[in-house]
Amino acid sequence: MPNRDTFVEHLTRQGISRRAFMKFCALTASSLALPTGSAKVIAQVLETTPRPTVIWLSSQECTGCSESILRSFEPSLESLILSEISLDYHNTLMAPSGTAAEAARRQAIAAGGHVLVVDGSITLNQQGAWSIIAGEAALDIIRESAERAALIIAIGNCAAFGGLPRATPNPTNAHGVDDLIVSGDLVTTAPVVNIPGCPPIPEVMTGVIVHFLTFGLPELDALNRPTVFYGQTVHDTCARLPHFDAGNFAQSFDDEGARQSFCLLNLGCKGPVTFNACSTTQWNGATSYPMHSGHGCLGCSEPDFWDRPGGFYAPLF
Ligand code: SF4
Ligand code: F3S
Repeated sequence: MPNRDTFVEHLTRQGISRRAFMKFCALTASSLALPTGSAKVIAQVLETTPRPTVIWLSSQECTGCSESILRSFEPSLESLILSEISLDYHNTLMAPSGTAAEAARRQAIAAGGHVLVVDGSITLNQQGAWSIIAGEAALDIIRESAERAALIIAIGNCAAFGGLPRATPNPTNAHGVDDLIVSGDLVTTAPVVNIPGCPPIPEVMTGVIVHFLTFGLPELDALNRPTVFYGQTVHDTCARLPHFDAGNFAQSFDDEGARQSFCLLNLGCKGPVTFNACSTTQWNGATSYPMHSGHGCLGCSEPDFWDRPGGFYAPLF
């Protein structure tokens, strides 16, 4: 791990109070569903551990994942997320560009032990769209950055499962990170945590990094998603579940059933087969989530959701 200041030292320089820090630890412990007392353990570890170097590489993506992180509320990006990590390279947010940026990346990964965040799918079509960054193929940059990483986070559906670019007919031969490891196109000993979503929930990324620093790798499901956030379907805790159980279904987005918050299953909701934390962690400072706002779940944290037969509005059953 590079010799860096700790989270608390950085916060102090930023003028962020210990109270805000402890609130962050409590919120993170709560979002990770950790037992009582875990907030103190998190605080102790973050107080003494150097902030991890994070290299964030974007490949074929829409920048929605970065936009999601930028709009996190608790903790907010400005006050805490950027303080918790040392974000040494990010295609969109960093000031340097071109060869200077690539030199900074190489310097940051030289010591190894960094966290590599990948968003966007990776094309195996080396001449294809979005495959070249500063004269190098995205795949080569990711290979180099993954080699000595301590952890790889594939953020968003594209990096986890290929996302929209991989939708039929997949013109760029796009793949998610796990696919490339299975095919041997990417070699790394670092564990991969998938945080799918289109976009993903920002607090999930924070939670995974804090869990990794504090307690090690979180428990993962068969798709390498952390079970604490992806262990339940969004249907399991949806506010409309009582209407589902009672057989009350809206038939159009403007009928009386929709006005009474009936279940959106017949309007294409994929909640019963979609594992994510939307209806528990929620979005925008726990303000809302799709079904709460009147639209069904599109299944954006599941593989191949763009290619689901019948499209987004076809009923599941
Ligand atoms: Fe389940 Fe969707 Fe109905 Fe909510 S709106 S209860 S997630 S089917
Ligand atoms: Fe995505 Fe469904 Fe949540 S569409 S944002 S997983 S409610």
